[in-house]
Amino acid sequence: MTNKTPPSIIALDGPAASGKSTLGQSLADSLGYLFFDTGIMYRAVTWIALQHDLNLKDEAVITELAQKAQIDIRPPSMKDGRSCDVVIEDRDVTWEMRGGDVDANVSVVSAYAGVRKALSEQQRRIGMRGKVVMVGRDIGTVVLPEADLKIYLDASAEERAKRRYDELIARGEKADYEEILRKVIQRDRIDSTRAVAPLRPADDAVIIDSDKMNAKQVFDHVLGLCK
Ligand code: DC
Repeated sequence: MTNKTPPSIIALDGPAASGKSTLGQSLADSLGYLFFDTGIMYRAVTWIALQHDLNLKDEAVITELAQKAQIDIRPPSMKDGRSCDVVIEDRDVTWEMRGGDVDANVSVVSAYAGVRKALSEQQRRIGMRGKVVMVGRDIGTVVLPEADLKIYLDASAEERAKRRYDELIARGEKADYEEILRKVIQRDRIDSTRAVAPLRPADDAVIIDSDKMNAKQVFDHVLGLCK
């Protein structure tokens, strides 16, 4: 059996609800690496903007917010499916940040060049230390183009909407499949057509279509690429 060193910087990109966080977390746990979900940063900026009633259409205001935002990531304080606590202004916003209001506005915020510059500089600084699994949309293309392994995890919009629906139901929340599907498609469109750092696989990414695979199969496949 060959025993090569696992890749130190792993970039994991893909559309909304393709299973990136689940895969990224298990991969990081199994390799003893840091798991860093960069979507949290875009969501956090969006949450603060909504909380303070800032004009989301004002790119300068939102960019300044992204440059100054204090986002605190802490080890999970509860076993409710979270991978970390996200604390903003002394408030635990871990789940609120995943709610409908943020979902509906985060694509607009993350399309601003100034916002992306501010947040991706921080992401790059953390990622370049190595031993990291970084999850997002542009990690392999923009944030860490030198990543040792790039994965692009894809699935059909229908499958991703179904997974999001099942997650919400499992957490005891209300969910409407058709509405979720509509929003997944809308978010894909905005994320992949924006001018700056659009969602797309890096030329050297391994593309995985997880439609007919469960989380364990995807994990085993990617772990095999690492070892
Ligand atoms: O992965 P997520 O659904 O939590 O991401 C939320 C939004 O943030 C998503 O609509 C796209 C954006 N995002 C991005 O543009 N670049 C990243 N590296 C991560 C997320």
